[in-house]
Amino acid sequence: MSLTDRGAEVSGFDRSAAMIEIARRHLRDADLRVHDLAEPLPWKDQTFDIVVASLVLHYLPNWSDPLTEFHRVLAPRGRLLVSVNHPGAFPIVHPDLAYFGVTEYTEDYEFDGKSVDLTFFHRPLSAMARSFAEAGFGIVGIHEPPADPDTPAEVLPPGLKPGGEFIGFLFFDLQAR
Ligand SMILES: C[S@@+](CC[C@H](N)C(=O)[O-])C[C@H]1O[C@@H](n2cnc3c(N)ncnc32)[C@H](O)[C@@H]1O
Repeated sequence: MSLTDRGAEVSGFDRSAAMIEIARRHLRDADLRVHDLAEPLPWKDQTFDIVVASLVLHYLPNWSDPLTEFHRVLAPRGRLLVSVNHPGAFPIVHPDLAYFGVTEYTEDYEFDGKSVDLTFFHRPLSAMARSFAEAGFGIVGIHEPPADPDTPAEVLPPGLKPGGEFIGFLFFDLQAR
């Protein structure tokens, strides 16, 4: 069930026009824009009760500016929900790369039969916590959710079952101080 189905007034953005087009098909009443998170957000101070940054921050080398912007557009004591690639998986998948420090890395994925390189910026857990604190957020909770039990098994990676636990993504529940 989407946030709009639950009665929320939703605004959203992605720097990809194609992703915004897909989002528009699902969320007809939402204010959806093409925008780059590396730029200041196009909303006034204290516009939102909740900001959700789903699987995007790990593409940015700088977290300070976007987190400061999230804090600016949130109401006092507003919540920021962040999900990122789990930093604990990084040394398992890339034992040759530096865990401590912001480390750029590229992985090859296949989408619709096409090979695509995706570039990420790993950062250790301590650096994530420091960035949240510096931007004015307190950590309410950290979650490592299992795969959704309703996910069809054929779309999950080998070895992962619907409802199964895995070190894939890390979720932060944050509150503006
Ligand atoms: C893994 S997808 C997640 C999509 C969606 N947020 C979700 O959770 O289903 C990562 C998305 O981040 C977007 N993205 C990457 N860098 C971005 C940036 N600097 N500003 C805005 N969007 C960005 C990509 O275009 C892509 O749609």
